[in-house]
Amino acid sequence: MGRGREFLDRIYALEDQGDVRSFYDETAGDYDEILLAQVGYVSPTICARTMARFLPGRQEPLMDLGCGTGLAGEALTALGYAHIDGVDFSAEMLAVARTRGCYVQLALADLNAGTNIPAGSYAAAVSVGVFGQHVLPEALDHAISIVEAGGLFCFSVNERAFDDYGFRDKVETLSAEGRTTCLSLTKEPYHVKESIDGWVCCLRIT
Ligand SMILES: C[S@@+](CC[C@H](N)C(=O)[O-])C[C@H]1O[C@@H](n2cnc3c(N)ncnc32)[C@H](O)[C@@H]1O
Repeated sequence: MGRGREFLDRIYALEDQGDVRSFYDETAGDYDEILLAQVGYVSPTICARTMARFLPGRQEPLMDLGCGTGLAGEALTALGYAHIDGVDFSAEMLAVARTRGCYVQLALADLNAGTNIPAGSYAAAVSVGVFGQHVLPEALDHAISIVEAGGLFCFSVNERAFDDYGFRDKVETLSAEGRTTCLSLTKEPYHVKESIDGWVCCLRIT
């Protein structure tokens, strides 16, 4: 088994939140090399391009929820976005993100507990590869709350987790409740070298 497959299998086997955080703390230094070179992780770039389809302005503040080592921040910066903040619950992942120099503010936060980010603080938020088995659809309620009305929330989820953990149902419920409008929901490459796709969803907050 390759290093990439082994890395993914270790993540899927994690059940306890504390174990998830410890795993990312311990692997932060190897994360980029394994995800990019071994797994062929392309979702940060794809989510940044999706955001750019719907958010033409480049100066508004954006939030990267579960920013990890900052791959999405880097992809958004490359597209010209000027103000990106990030949160994650792994201090070591944040430490790597800090070295990229593409975030204005980085802070610790647990998406399952709700963050202390005030409602409507951001023009848009992204969350790439974070929601799924360990951050469930209920946490989307808080994620969308930090975005102002008319703003965007763009997130990607591993294809299997999207249906297995109820993300499709949650997106439909948010629409039915009139809280968001789904601007796009597309199946895209995700872990290319493992032949795993992911769903990329862009919501407008109403
Ligand atoms: C697969 S990585 C994705 C990181 C980054 N978004 C990317 O695309 O490279 C998942 C990230 O989510 C973070 N994470 C997992 N559960 C979390 C939670 N409950 N609250 C905040 N961050 C969490 C992990 O620490 C890790 O950095």
